[in-house]
Amino acid sequence: MSETTTPFSARQLRYVAEHTVGDDAFLIRLKRAARAAGIPSIWIAPEQASLMQILLRLARAREVVEVGTLAGYSAIVMARALPPDGRVRTIEINPERAAFAESWIGRSDVAGKVEVLCGSGEEMLSRIAANSADATFLDADKSGYPIYLEHSMRILKPGGFVMVDNAFAFGQLLDEAPTDREVSAVRAFNEVMADEARLHSVIVPIGDGLWIGVKR
Ligand code: DHB
Ligand code: MG
Repeated sequence: MSETTTPFSARQLRYVAEHTVGDDAFLIRLKRAARAAGIPSIWIAPEQASLMQILLRLARAREVVEVGTLAGYSAIVMARALPPDGRVRTIEINPERAAFAESWIGRSDVAGKVEVLCGSGEEMLSRIAANSADATFLDADKSGYPIYLEHSMRILKPGGFVMVDNAFAFGQLLDEAPTDREVSAVRAFNEVMADEARLHSVIVPIGDGLWIGVKR
């Protein structure tokens, strides 16, 4: 028996990107300003952003919680996929980054739809009510992922979904001698996700690997 799986090449990935909407002028300016402000240039790929927006639209999501704001790119992208009364609450532990994101969100087309919560993921998530979120997006310190996932299970409504970034551990997931110190945390988390019976999950090989898990 053979399963139809086309190996994913760099050329095919480029083709995907070329057939997906890229950043608009505002997001390009945001990235440039973040670089100038010394914020790490870490962004979800535009094709990953599109996939996340499509999922949020299909789910008619209204309440989204993100862990790991950084410069606010993904929070803005997600907010754009929500209805006018939708809201992204995005948690950032670093006050300078939270302030940067807040100022750029304030000048964006989704200014009224994003709230930046400055504090640790665990602390801020613990303040969010159970069964109140349609979706969560985990994209912060990888060793915190298991705790953020537990909170996601609590705050997500039944049928809500969690998205988790970096399932491929910055491309080093299967390396024998990875150099990034977070790789082991990603590996351990991937096992937690794969074993989490309360979720129907899959890793989508887009960007650096995106976990999607629907709460049963
Ligand atoms: C890193 C973190 C991320 O969430 C990401 O998407 C890419 C890189 C990092 O810590 O290097
Ligand atoms: Mg990430």
